Amino acid sequence: MKKLGILLSGRGSNFQAIARSVQAGKIPAEIAVVISNKADAQGLETARAMGLEAVCIPSKGLKRKEFDRRVVALLKEKQVDLVCLAGFMRLLSACFVEQFPDRILNIHPALLPSFPGLDGQRQALEHGVKFSGCTVHFVDTGLDSGPIVAQAVVPVNDDDTLAALSARILSEEHRLYTEAINIVLSGKFRIEGRRVMRT
Ligand code: GRF
Repeated sequence: MKKLGILLSGRGSNFQAIARSVQAGKIPAEIAVVISNKADAQGLETARAMGLEAVCIPSKGLKRKEFDRRVVALLKEKQVDLVCLAGFMRLLSACFVEQFPDRILNIHPALLPSFPGLDGQRQALEHGVKFSGCTVHFVDTGLDSGPIVAQAVVPVNDDDTLAALSARILSEEHRLYTEAINIVLSGKFRIEGRRVMRT
């Protein structure tokens, strides 16, 4: 059975969607560990309530490399095959990324390469795009910059508020992350340059 490691910093709704897919047999893997850099992350509580191992490794006051070293050590100890960032609000250093080549995914609430970084939904709304969505991509050391595994599109309506658009995107995020995890776990893809292609 393949093992997933989840990294989060907050609410954890994407983690919960992944966990539900696992429980329902829609992802052929188990969640080996959930790690947060914030002790008060709602996602940690949710994980514990689901009977999963949930660990806080505080990032505050630690140099990036030291924090990353601790997280990598725990992921390796748990023999994690695929790392899923789910609202994990930190960049990863090269020493982290190199330990899991093409085995780290992130989800972003916009159609990359548009609107990377914080508040992707707000950036899209303020820019006036007519469609936005979400992206699951491999993680490199840049900001939301790795090769794209899957995207989903939603319309931006004239009467949209930030909350309405964010909710529309979020429900696609929850669906898309499972799809992307399954593509990667299946191994049936190849990466050419920036292009991730199904095989
Ligand atoms: C999501 O919008 C995700 O795309 C972004 O951070 C948010 C996390 O939400 N990376 P949640 O913690 O999964 O509910």
